[in-house]
Amino acid sequence: MEGRRVRESMSELSEFALPIDANTLGNLLGGRIMHLVDLAAATAAMRHSRCPVVTASVDSMTFLNPIRIGQLVTLKASVNRVFRTSMEVGVKVFVEDLHTGEVRHTNSSYLTFVALADDGKPRPVPPVVPESAAEQRRWEEAGERRKQRLEARARMQLRERTEE
Ligand SMILES: CC(C)(COP(=O)(O)OP(=O)(O)OC[C@H]1O[C@@H](n2cnc3c(N)ncnc32)[C@H](O)[C@@H]1OP(=O)(O)O)[C@@H](O)C(=O)NCCC(=O)NCCS
Repeated sequence: MEGRRVRESMSELSEFALPIDANTLGNLLGGRIMHLVDLAAATAAMRHSRCPVVTASVDSMTFLNPIRIGQLVTLKASVNRVFRTSMEVGVKVFVEDLHTGEVRHTNSSYLTFVALADDGKPRPVPPVVPESAAEQRRWEEAGERRKQRLEARARMQLRERTEE
């Protein structure tokens, strides 16, 4: 399968933080940010694989800065690495104060998506071709993260079997 460059599937999503999504402190709900992260990442994964995908896992999320209602949230997602039927997507979230122009990084996350064939089974995805030094670094680091995810999955499956 011919590889596709990282920049061919990058996705960007911007949205105003609206009062309907506020917590009681007047900040954007963490759950809303998680939803946007999933959408931005799924867009990059589908753009890369050109087929339906499901979220297999989401790595931990740390929120560094609050997003105030009225500020602009922007998410940037790109495919870091393809394994066989799965791919790791990295998402960076920024908040922009449109009055001052200040932009701050609020959080980053890694998600794994699995591409599905018409029968609902996982199907192979074209490799991703890292070009820049940063893309190459992310590609390499994704291998280590995958190991940890699959170990966590195996532990969970074992726990389920022993609790049955
Ligand atoms: C994700 C899912 C398709 C995996 O199916 P499966 O029959 O277990 O298939 P496999 O074990 O062959 O795994 C398929 C790929 O996913 C990877 N994978 C599965 N679970 C994973 C996890 N928790 N984290 C990272 N990768 C995972 C496997 O390593 C494999 O990758 P590879 O082909 O690149 O080596 C299946 O568990 C599922 O449908 N889960 C529910 C997804 C969902 O509903 N998401 C929320 C809404 S989109």
